[in-house]
Amino acid sequence: MGIDPMANRVVLEPAERLVIFDTTLRDGEQAPGCSMSLREKLRVARALADLGVDVIEAGFPAASDGDFESVRTIAREVKGPTICGLARCGEHDIHRAWDALSPAESARIHVFIATSPIHRKFKLRLTREEVLRRAVSGVQMARDFCQNVEFSAEDAARTEPPFLAEVVSAVIAAGATTVNIPDTVGYAVPWEFAELIRYLKSNVQDVDLATISVHCHDDLGMAVANSLAAVASGARQIECTVNGIGERAGNCSLEEIVMAVRTRADRLAVSTAVDTTRLYPTSRLVAAVTGVHVPRNKAVVGDNAFAHEAGIHQHGMLRHQSTYEIMRPEDVGMGSSRLVLGKHSGRHAFRDRVTALGLDLDEAELDRAFIAFKQLADRKKEVFDADIEAIVLRTDGAESGPWRLASMQIRSGKGITPSADVELIHSDGTSRRESADGDGPVAAAFRAIEKATGVKVKLRNFDIRNVTVGGDAQGEAVVSVESDGRTFLGKGFDTDIVEASGLAFLQAINRICENRHRQTPAPEQPSLAVAGPV
Ligand code: KIV
Ligand code: ZN
Repeated sequence: MGIDPMANRVVLEPAERLVIFDTTLRDGEQAPGCSMSLREKLRVARALADLGVDVIEAGFPAASDGDFESVRTIAREVKGPTICGLARCGEHDIHRAWDALSPAESARIHVFIATSPIHRKFKLRLTREEVLRRAVSGVQMARDFCQNVEFSAEDAARTEPPFLAEVVSAVIAAGATTVNIPDTVGYAVPWEFAELIRYLKSNVQDVDLATISVHCHDDLGMAVANSLAAVASGARQIECTVNGIGERAGNCSLEEIVMAVRTRADRLAVSTAVDTTRLYPTSRLVAAVTGVHVPRNKAVVGDNAFAHEAGIHQHGMLRHQSTYEIMRPEDVGMGSSRLVLGKHSGRHAFRDRVTALGLDLDEAELDRAFIAFKQLADRKKEVFDADIEAIVLRTDGAESGPWRLASMQIRSGKGITPSADVELIHSDGTSRRESADGDGPVAAAFRAIEKATGVKVKLRNFDIRNVTVGGDAQGEAVVSVESDGRTFLGKGFDTDIVEASGLAFLQAINRICENRHRQTPAPEQPSLAVAGPV
């Protein structure tokens, strides 16, 4: 009998179901520079539904009117997965969460409170007893609205295990159907985290009445390893994000955990409902929407994940794929991604490619994108997937925020001070012209846009790269600016990189304007005012 390279995929016992809880739109979106517009969130939520995740955490409805609106829209429009909203253990948050979630086919309220000694002492200033009381009352309140209630013990990995077991027993008795054990600061090591889950499995009363979940951050690069260790100890829900985006170093990466479970089913004996061929398109979509690019060497979805450069590897691969490949590119949806369109491609081919990339467009959006595609195809011989993503985002971006760029003229060259003239159109129908100088043409364009919109920002980061290869490639500019204590990201695409930069800067400003318009801070609940960011 020869070596069967796929033998390790055969699971003899029926695999238990591992619930995939995606928090790209909540924990992921919370990361600096990852904020998304409502349309972008809806697009990502639809892609997550197509991917086959079980639960989408769509946001934190009490955090702002904008968050409320996006959770409600997703709850109304996205079918398939359970839609979840985060809430602190207080009446206001829970009511707000339910108001946002109630249109969903299947909804979950996710309540949380920190349990660790550090958080109790310095953040909450609450005793153990008070934390326990609030945890229970939060779950009870949520159960008054919804049968499906998750409780998270924030910073569980640094909580005294006996106290954690007491909290988990109490919230299960109060009706929590899922109990989440977060490693909020990414501090655990895999064998320690596995032991904690085993401890809870043996010391919590009625532990089998709830699904034990884990939520690992990646501060020490161990989020996926810790999550897998927890699964080996009996956790049956993993909280994760596409591309691992999230607070600080991010969260457990969805594509890595799903492919680890699938590839090593012999060791884990669990399975997910994820359509793994949607992993790559979904990763591309989230990268394009957030502007946070996936490193080339990123496991599973990086551009080099399946590239074999060394001669000895290529030789092995030619003999048999399994010599150096434990997964196939087509398993994660990379197979057909290199198709190229050109100016003779029709609307049908364009639509097929857009769908394959996970970009769900309605007819009007498709019309706009197709016109932009034809214009680009006239200038560029070959239109690649990355060009299509850029087109879709550019035509989409045109919908959000009050300002549009009508024209931009730049003067620069040796011996002259770079300057820019811009004309912007406001959604109220008025137009504004402004001129400014700068150290370079891009700085001049930014300054002129600031003057025209009246929005002052601090430039935090500016990145420019070519979307594809070749002298006719589109440039993608990503601008990160700070305003109102938050970071806003803007992206612009054009074959002219100064114009791409101006568009990116204007998109960031549009997002600031939208945010100012939508942002009505939630009233503070006196007792939870110190609950802080999650
Ligand atoms: O990291 C964390 O603890 C969280 C909880 C709110 C689940 O995001
Ligand atoms: Zn988190």
